[in-house]
Amino acid sequence: MQAVDLAPSAPISADIFRAAMRQFVGTVSLITVGTGDERSGLVATSAGSLSADPPLVLVCVNRQASSWPLFARHAAFGVNFLRPHHRALAERFSGRDGTTGSARYDGADWRTMVTGAPLLKDAAVAFDCELDDMFDKGSHSVVIGRVMGVATAEGEDALVYWRGGYRSLTA
Ligand SMILES: Cc1cc2nc3c(=O)[nH]c(=O)nc-3n(C[C@H](O)[C@H](O)[C@H](O)COP(=O)(O)O)c2cc1C
Repeated sequence: MQAVDLAPSAPISADIFRAAMRQFVGTVSLITVGTGDERSGLVATSAGSLSADPPLVLVCVNRQASSWPLFARHAAFGVNFLRPHHRALAERFSGRDGTTGSARYDGADWRTMVTGAPLLKDAAVAFDCELDDMFDKGSHSVVIGRVMGVATAEGEDALVYWRGGYRSLTA
């Protein structure tokens, strides 16, 4: 197999970087933040594990995102890893269909655990996080959560994102 250099020399443009990242298989999660009418959130492929002891997760949040101010204000958030049947919910949390704020939560079942952050009841796994740290890098903030609660729901499959589209992991 022959390797093809997309950009043999620096600087790497944002377009080249985005095109390259299409090859990355992302696990799809909903990042949920806020309470009541001030709930919002985003769909993300940047969430993952940071440390087991202490239990920390991280997610990179664009500072232009409408939900970005809510992380510091509420100091808590949820990371909810999705199943394939959550595809429409994921689309809503991307904001692509024009749905904003707490309306993104319509039509799904939510619960709270320790921090009060909204958690998706049938997520493959949901992490209830207290904001541990948040710092800026490039266009994004790296948001670190200390895991205060974990919930899982039955199911075998996972929703992933690859080459610009949602896919079932096993299909
Ligand atoms: C599959 C997918 C993954 C995404 N991953 C991230 C991410 O990791 N971080 C991020 O800030 N935005 C990510 N986005 C964009 C946000 O979900 C969302 O579009 C953005 O926050 C704009 O939302 P707003 O309407 O609330 O401003 C992703 C979008 C899609 C479709």
